[in-house]
Amino acid sequence: MSYQSLLIENRNDILIVTINREKAYNALNQQVFNDLNDIFTKYAPTLPGLKGVVITGAGEKAFVAGADIKEFSGISPENGKRLSKRGQDVFFAIEQFNKPVIAAVNGFALGGGCELSMACHMRIAGEKAKFGQPEVNLGLIPGYGGTQRLTRYIGKAKSMELHLTADMIGAEEAHRLGLVNYVVPKGEEVAKAIEIIEKIGTKAPLAVAKAIQCINEYYEKGNGYDMEVDLFAECTTTEDFKEGTAAFVEKRKAEFKGK
Ligand code: CAA
Repeated sequence: MSYQSLLIENRNDILIVTINREKAYNALNQQVFNDLNDIFTKYAPTLPGLKGVVITGAGEKAFVAGADIKEFSGISPENGKRLSKRGQDVFFAIEQFNKPVIAAVNGFALGGGCELSMACHMRIAGEKAKFGQPEVNLGLIPGYGGTQRLTRYIGKAKSMELHLTADMIGAEEAHRLGLVNYVVPKGEEVAKAIEIIEKIGTKAPLAVAKAIQCINEYYEKGNGYDMEVDLFAECTTTEDFKEGTAAFVEKRKAEFKGK
């Protein structure tokens, strides 16, 4: 499988997706959105043993420096609406993917880049990474979920500050605020993301998918208790549940099949 704007590598059933527009600091144009959408809605779901996806940016400078500002000039309100909705929909597809998706943030994650990282289930930041929502510098606000997700991750006061001042924060500050899971030396972001996905790959896949679903339900709707009851009950019907509990009792390693 090949994509115009992305590099794809399947490394031991972990898909490494690299946004490949290094000269434009990996800015998100419509081609990137089309390619990401195809990966999460068509290609990745057909990979039988897939353990998860890592998203990163080409080169040393940027994860993604935002939506492609060059696509914005002279845009009409109708097209603005379409563009924003399209971005949100693609990011929802990433957020709702049933396997772990981790952003390996290797540089600037600004505007749409910060938004893309926040749509992933976790974020690993290189020590030089920078996060921000600088859209007010352009007379804009975020269009791909930034006002919503950043506020939920770091709280209203700090989200207000970052959105209104357009300031960037470094990896350590992002970690302190709870936006980032781990800060690692530059160049080790993808390796750390792979390590986490490998660990998740030893767990029961259907249970992992249901945990993602419940956490997203709370995250989107503020309450996922009912869904938790239903999906907990569904887990008890799986072969993996029988295997997991039997393995515990028999003091052996569980062999999950995703059934
Ligand atoms: N869109 C298009 N091109 C971009 C870009 C973007 N968001 N960010 C960087 N680039 C391009 C630059 O135009 C430049 O290309 P040229 O060499 O052809 O001129 C190249 O990437 C390198 O950029 P700089 O020379 O500016 O590099 P720098 O190291 O001096 O600065 C930077 C880096 C601070 C990230 C700076 O490039 C910058 O501020 N970029 C814009 C960040 C931004 O405003 N992002 C938000 C976009 S709007 C958005 O995302 C809205 C939304 O939610 C829907």
